[in-house]
Amino acid sequence: MIEIDRRAFISALGGTAAVGLMSHEARADALEEHLARRLQLAQAEPGSPPERFPTAAEIEARIPTRHYRRGVGTLFLETDPERTVGVLAPMPERPTLVDFLERRFTFPRSHCLQSANKALERGVDEEVVLACLLHDLVQVMMRSDHGYWGAQLFEPYVPERTAFAIKYHQALRFYADEEAGYTYPDLYYRIFGEDYVPAPHVQAAYEYVRGHRWYDAPREVTVSDLYAFDPDAEVSLDPFVDIIGRNFKQPEEGLGNDGSPVAHMWRTIANPDAPL
Ligand SMILES: [Fe+2]
Ligand SMILES: [Fe+2]
Repeated sequence: MIEIDRRAFISALGGTAAVGLMSHEARADALEEHLARRLQLAQAEPGSPPERFPTAAEIEARIPTRHYRRGVGTLFLETDPERTVGVLAPMPERPTLVDFLERRFTFPRSHCLQSANKALERGVDEEVVLACLLHDLVQVMMRSDHGYWGAQLFEPYVPERTAFAIKYHQALRFYADEEAGYTYPDLYYRIFGEDYVPAPHVQAAYEYVRGHRWYDAPREVTVSDLYAFDPDAEVSLDPFVDIIGRNFKQPEEGLGNDGSPVAHMWRTIANPDAPL
C-alpha cells in the first residue's frame, strides 16, 4: 500500500469539516483518485510493497453505498459534495468539434490530448492520431460501454478506420499484447477488481478484432492511452487543429444541427441542463 500524508490529503479535500460532510463513498473515491495520482511516484520508490487491489466482488459491494452509478456521463454529475456542476459556457450557433473540445469535453480532454500527443510522437498515421484524440470524449455523456458510444458519436464525421479504432479500444484494453507494447494496466485492477472477467460481448469483440486487418488501429489507441496520466498537465490543441481539419467532416450547420443520425447526441452534450 502507498503511504499517504493524511494531513495533506485532508487539506486537499478542503479540510476536516469538508471531509466530515462527504459520504463514505465520496471519500473512498477521493482516496482512490489520490492514490492513483501518487502511484507513479510510489512505483519509483525502491522496496515499496505491491499494492493490494480490490476484488470484483468488493467493487460490486460499493454500488448500494453510492447515490449515482459509475456509468453516468461526467457532464451530468459532480461527485464532490463541496462543489456544484456550475453553469456551462454557451455554445456558438454552429458549433464545431473544437468548440465542443473547448466547452464541453472538458473532463477527458487532457487525457485525450496527452494520448494523441503520444501517438504523434510515436509516428502514428493521422486516422489513428484522430482516434486517440477522440477515444474517451464521449465519457462526458456516457461512460458505460464508452467505445461503442464514442464510435457512434463520431462515425458520420471521421474515416471508417478512426471509428473502428475508437469502438474497439474498449475491448482491447483488457487484453495485453506485449509485442505491440501494451501491458494490462494496474488501473484496471483498481477500478474493475483484480479477478475481473470482461463481459461476453467484450470477449467476442476481442476475438473479432484480433483477426481483423485493422487490428493495429484500436491496438495503437491502447498503446498510446495513458493509465497514469497527469490530470494537471496542460496540453495544447494546436498540433491537432490541422489533423482535425483534414480528417473530421465538420458539418456547415454545426454539430447537432446537421440532421445526422447522431445529431441529438451532440445536442445532449451541448445542453445537458435541458430537463426533457
Ligand atoms: Fe477508453
Ligand atoms: Fe483513454
